[in-house]
Amino acid sequence: MAIWAIVPAAGVGKRLGAEIPKQYLSICGKTILHHTLERLGRVRTLSGLVLVLRPDDKTPVSAEIPESLNVRIARGGEERCHSVLNALKILEFELASDDWVLVHDAARPCVKPSEVDGLIDVVSNHDVGGLLAAPVSDTLKRVNDEGEITGTVDRTELYRALTPQIFRFHVLKRALRLAADQNRIVTDDSAAIESLGLSPVIVPGSTDNIKITEESDLLLAEAIMRQQNSPGVGSP
Ligand code: C5P
Repeated sequence: MAIWAIVPAAGVGKRLGAEIPKQYLSICGKTILHHTLERLGRVRTLSGLVLVLRPDDKTPVSAEIPESLNVRIARGGEERCHSVLNALKILEFELASDDWVLVHDAARPCVKPSEVDGLIDVVSNHDVGGLLAAPVSDTLKRVNDEGEITGTVDRTELYRALTPQIFRFHVLKRALRLAADQNRIVTDDSAAIESLGLSPVIVPGSTDNIKITEESDLLLAEAIMRQQNSPGVGSP
């Protein structure tokens, strides 16, 4: 069964406040997008990848794309969920309904190919699909509009949803189409799948797999990559 990756990279990176979209910022000598695509390029089971870019993004991206990857470009939408839906549309004639799509944020360049392989392994025996996720380690507080604590949330059942997330092509398309038709903004693909009453499986993921959101994340990502590439650790 075929697996295609989708890499949404059509955000503006408002919280980072840089002058260029965040995937073009450099860490360890290469752009964030380059690192992300290079790592996905090492996942041997992928048949191809759809990179989603803003329609007004004129950056020449060919230098960021590893030669080993079969890449198509899709136009970004207003929100991430619309960008992913646009990528699914261009796979319409490429994929059978039961084939898999693996969605991974461009803004997560520290993902380890071995973790992606592990997720694919687990999900291939699952009816719905799944995602990498990390247990919550902080104590969580619920607060009211005044910023006062109204309760402590039991964290034992809570996980942070990471990417990649992998689902059957036709199920993800139906889920995101429905969310768009109902004007619901879903912040990850799993949320759209869950709204169909389905239960994706989580696969414990490394906390290394950070999403670059704020400036301090750039330094953290550099430190993670240096550690991942240090002698004795093996290639990530
Ligand atoms: O904004 P955030 O970091 O949560 O976005 C996650 C990923 O989704 C990023 O890689 C970003 O480029 C992408 N995105 C997109 N289309 C949008 C908004 C975000 O492809 N409209």
